Amino acid sequence: MLGDNLPLRNTPADRLRKVGEASRKKLSEKEGALLWQVAPSSMMNAAQPDTTLHQPGVVFSKVHSGNWEVPREEIKLVKKIGNGATGDVYRAYHKGKFVAAKMLKDCGDGLIEQAYEDIVMEVQVLVSLGRHPNVVQLMGVCVENKRRPILLEELVEGPNLEVFLQNPACRGKLQRPTIYKWSTDIWNSLDFLHNRDPCIMHRDVKPGNFMVTADYTALKLADFGMSKLVPKSQMPSVINTGYTGTVRYMAPEVLTQRKGHYTEKADIYSAALVMYYIATEKRPNFLTQNSEEDLRKRPDLSVVQWPSIEAIIEKAWQHKPEARPSASEMIRLLVAIPDKPSENLRDVIPSIGGCCTIS
Ligand SMILES: Nc1ncnc2c1ncn2[C@@H]1O[C@H](COP(=O)(O)OP(=O)(O)OP(=O)(O)O)[C@@H](O)[C@H]1O
Ligand SMILES: [Mg+2]
Repeated sequence: MLGDNLPLRNTPADRLRKVGEASRKKLSEKEGALLWQVAPSSMMNAAQPDTTLHQPGVVFSKVHSGNWEVPREEIKLVKKIGNGATGDVYRAYHKGKFVAAKMLKDCGDGLIEQAYEDIVMEVQVLVSLGRHPNVVQLMGVCVENKRRPILLEELVEGPNLEVFLQNPACRGKLQRPTIYKWSTDIWNSLDFLHNRDPCIMHRDVKPGNFMVTADYTALKLADFGMSKLVPKSQMPSVINTGYTGTVRYMAPEVLTQRKGHYTEKADIYSAALVMYYIATEKRPNFLTQNSEEDLRKRPDLSVVQWPSIEAIIEKAWQHKPEARPSASEMIRLLVAIPDKPSENLRDVIPSIGGCCTIS
């Protein structure tokens, strides 16, 4: 249960201290140096207690009771395929199948406390999640070393969406059927997370956390390290750590609070920017200097060149969270557009033909 006496989640500044010098450089290099900058105090509301739960013992007993446990000897690491801020991801072999194995980065800075909390949170979310075609599937967890759990996930063989969209070979290849399908996948993944009790707020919705399937026909949401499970009854009053996620994609209400109230509508805002990125192939570079003005700025919608999609994106990135549609409403809006493209992706996707690799 969530409550006031639970440990506080760290502020971004605390995270930076814990992550250590080597990893910090890596963090600041990511995504145009916008990750993990600390917003000026003038933009921050007064601190309030956070209610995030981190109880590894409870999480690991769920791994056991849910039959998710995998012995270390059954996992063969094959090749590193992903290099996140705090976790390394390997192509691995388990019981006759290739899987993705995620574990804490071996960065030489000692065990990173925040990264540990994030991987425990990811386990907590994934063990409670059923199957969904747009969310990476948990395959098992190795908890033999409780300080270095290994998560086994469905291996998604395509690149992450950020890698895909930044690859010059992929430029100009995304056509309306793909833009429409991938946008629908994004909202379906969030609909699945938000419409459960407890609601799962992902809190780091960004292109780097969507995986593109090998055949380029679907997106799958990954990386639940920043997620938060909030019982629906507590959603109106929940207090969260602000400034959580990746700055470029953070909703105004997340960007401006050290701790405070926000809801799953913060994910809706972030997903609107991802949808814009897919529709334009342009990274949403619109934040300038962490100023108050930035909070009302948005990327140039006219670049989308698809009015019905522009109108939908605009609804989802509104300043007021309560004005943004839910993920299910976004799906309904997409279904209702008058110029809905054909659902047959075969004509478009094969032309991309292996333009991106994961590593
Ligand atoms: N299930 C998967 N299948 C294939 N590759 C994956 C999978 N999960 C993650 N990866 C790859 O590993 C990268 C890092 O994974 P992930 O985002 O989970 O780690 P992270 O340390 O939390 O990252 P960051 O904090 O940088 O977002 C992904 O961007 C992706 O390229
Ligand atoms: Mg990630």
